[in-house]
This record gives sequence, C-alpha cells and structure tokens, in this order.
Amino acid sequence: MKVLLVGNGGREHAIVWKLLQSKRIRQIMCVPGNGGTAALERCQNLPLTIDDFQGMVRFVEVHNISLVVVGPELPLALGITDYLKTQEIKVFGPTKEGAQIEASKSWAKSLMQQAKIPTASAAVFQDAKTAKAYVAAQVAPIVVKADGLAAGKGVTVASTTEEAQAAIDYLFENKFRQVLIEEYLTGQEVSVLALTDGLTIRPLLPAQDYKRLGEGDIGVNTGGMGAYAPAPIVTPALMKRIEQEIFTPTLAALRQRRIDYRGVLYAGLMITPAGDPKVLEFNCRFGDPETQAILPLLETPLEDLLLACAEQRLAEQPPIVWKPGVAVCVVLAATGYPESYQKGKLITGIEKAEAMGVNVFHAGTRLKPGLSGHQLTTDGGRVLAVTALGENFQQAHAQAYAAVECIEFEGMYYRRDIGVAGVGWVER
Ligand code: AMP
Ligand code: GLY
Repeated sequence: MKVLLVGNGGREHAIVWKLLQSKRIRQIMCVPGNGGTAALERCQNLPLTIDDFQGMVRFVEVHNISLVVVGPELPLALGITDYLKTQEIKVFGPTKEGAQIEASKSWAKSLMQQAKIPTASAAVFQDAKTAKAYVAAQVAPIVVKADGLAAGKGVTVASTTEEAQAAIDYLFENKFRQVLIEEYLTGQEVSVLALTDGLTIRPLLPAQDYKRLGEGDIGVNTGGMGAYAPAPIVTPALMKRIEQEIFTPTLAALRQRRIDYRGVLYAGLMITPAGDPKVLEFNCRFGDPETQAILPLLETPLEDLLLACAEQRLAEQPPIVWKPGVAVCVVLAATGYPESYQKGKLITGIEKAEAMGVNVFHAGTRLKPGLSGHQLTTDGGRVLAVTALGENFQQAHAQAYAAVECIEFEGMYYRRDIGVAGVGWVER
C-alpha cells in the first residue's frame, strides 16, 4: 500500500513514522514533508505545495497511491477532499463543508446550538461598532474569536472589556468579516480526538496540550509547546459522557446537514469545575503536538484505522489497542516563536537523543546538502518534538528531558514543565 501525506509539521512526521511501522506500507510520499520525513526509508518528499491539488492527483495516478492522508486544516478548508473525490481517490480528511467545523467558528457554534451540544454561549457580529457595544454591556473576562482560520491567533481571552474591544478592532481591521463574543469558561482543558467514517466514531486517548509559551502557563498562546497522553482527568465515565453528549450528537448533526465526514473530529474541551465537558472548539484534523504524544502509544496499525474511515467501514474494526503507560512530548522551538524567529540554524544531537529510546519528530527542519553530507537545519518556529514513553508521568518526563539535553541548535527554547505541572496537573 502506498500513501500520500499532506503537510510538513511534527504531526505529519509522527503519522508517517507510525504508518511506516507496518510492513504493509510500501511507500509514503509527503507534500511537502520536512527534514525528518526526507530522512526516512520508504518515504519521499515531493516538491509540491499543499494547495496544488492537481499536482497531487498526477502523483497519485502515476504512483498508484491507495490513500491520501491530510494533516493540516488549510487544504481541507480549501476543498482538497472534494477535489480528490471527484477523481475517485480515497482520502482521510473531511470535505470543505465538513471542515467548516474548524474554519468557521460561527458555523460550528450554530451546529452545536442546534444539536444541544454543551458549549459556551456566544453571539456573532458583522461590525465592530455593534460588537463593542455588546461587550460594553457584559462583565469581563470575555472571549473574542475571529470567525475564520487564523493560525492560532484568532482568540483573545480578554480580562477587561477594553481589551475585548481592542481585540474586536484588531480583527475587523485585519479583514475578518465576523467575530464571536463568547462566555468565558473556567476549568481544565483537554483534547479528545476521535476517528470517524461519518457513521461510527472512535475516540483516541485523551491528551492535554500546553498552549502557552511560558512555564507555569504564562505568556502568549502558541500552536502548542508540549503534550501528554493519556490525560487522567478524562476518566472512563467522563469519556462515555463525551461520546454521548458531544461526539454522537455532533456526528448526527453533520449527517443531518448531509455532510459525509471522514477523518478526525478533534474536540477541544473545557472540563468545568463541576466536572462537565463543554466544547471550546472543534478541529477537523489531528492536533499538533497531541498526535506526537498519542501515536507512539497506539498499538493498532494506523493504516487500518485511516483506511477504514476513508472506506466507511470503521464499525467493522476491532477496538483500538493502546500500549500501557504514558507519553510526554516536549516541543523544541526557535526563540521568538510564535512571532518572528531565525531559520537555518544547525541542529545536532538527534541521534544521541534517539539512542535513548525516544522519538524525535521533526517539525520545522530541513535537510540541506552540505560539504560533508547532508546537514539538518531549523526551518520553522516549532522545530522538533521529543516524545518519551514511561510507565508513569515522572518516568516519561525524566526520559523526555534527558533526551532534550542531547539536542542543540542556536536559540533553542522549550518549556521545562511539560507533563509535571501547569495545564491540567492533577495528583497522579
Ligand atoms: P480555541 O482556538 O477556540 O480553542 O481557543 C484558543 C484557546 O483560548 C483555548 O485553548 C482556550 O485556552 C481559550 N478559550 C477559548 N474559548 C474559551 C472560552 N469560552 N472560555 C475560556 N477560554 C477559552
Ligand atoms: N494543539 C492544538 C491544535 O492542534 O490545534
């Protein structure tokens, strides 16, 4: 079986790594991939952009590829699945209509409201003046959200109404045509990703993502500075509620809209102090870096699950099997991320880290031909993600950070508290 994978992040490297563990996978082609996927046997990076759907179809046809797996949200929101389906190509990832669940927060909110899925109450506005007048009559904290893909920069949790109003101005000045003003929820955040073929839905292990840049959860929001799985806050009883109160009705509401949703449905949840799950957001894809923590724990061959989703026969699959223990994933970023940062810095020590038994997933890296063979350099804000497995959190944490110590590049920055404190820390 040959697979074409779209994307170039740590999430995509983790998906490729997991797929390649199966002998059934003969080859994977990545569009465009990164320095990590370039170095893998049976894997090849293609010089195409993630919106070159026609280019991908040519490769799929020439190379007899059985499945296309889409990593990031952008090509899904642009309709990659719709396009490939017209060419009778199997795809893991929802159609453009389905991807609205992430690409349009107002669309997702109205779906949740109609299906009575627990979420923060919200109002939608098309102009700054009305939105600001509404905010003036509310009590802070309050949440302002852009209605559109914003690369993680579209949400402001405002502690004052003035801050909320400034966020509203900023969004309308930056070409967003709608904003949501949302009730502020407190509690613990957790990411529950589920695989679905449009009819059946199977949750993966719950994970927690450390979104803030600084230790102790301070500083700006990022794409995610680390993650761990499974998150013990999601007990089996709570997972059952999440399935019954969130996933099943969401899938039914999608079907009611005649949306054949095949891919990942990622629920970003707040577990309130009363213990109730409420949806903060949905994503239409695997999370990054949650995937780098979840997939190393997966025992079931990933291609069986992805193909079953694409072919709408997930119900026939045996229950998903997981390895015991926990995974801690630490993101190594370039100083300045998520704003501006330098690229092209030499990375050393990965082999030494890997010799300790951890996974080093590449995100923003590039393999450059050099005088003495290939050189690996930084090529993005989040550069690497180091995942260690352990019998418990302390072990996995210690192992991940021992491996991180081996790796060096100029300007390397990481949080030292992934998996031990901060977001969602509960006594274990
Ligand atoms: P989102 O992209 O909608 O997940 O928002 C990004 C982050 O903003 C979330 O991970 C939360 O930390 C925070 N957030 C979003 N919505 C709310 C809310 N209604 N109440 C409190 N925090 C929120
Ligand atoms: N880690 C958050 C996300 O993938 O959206």
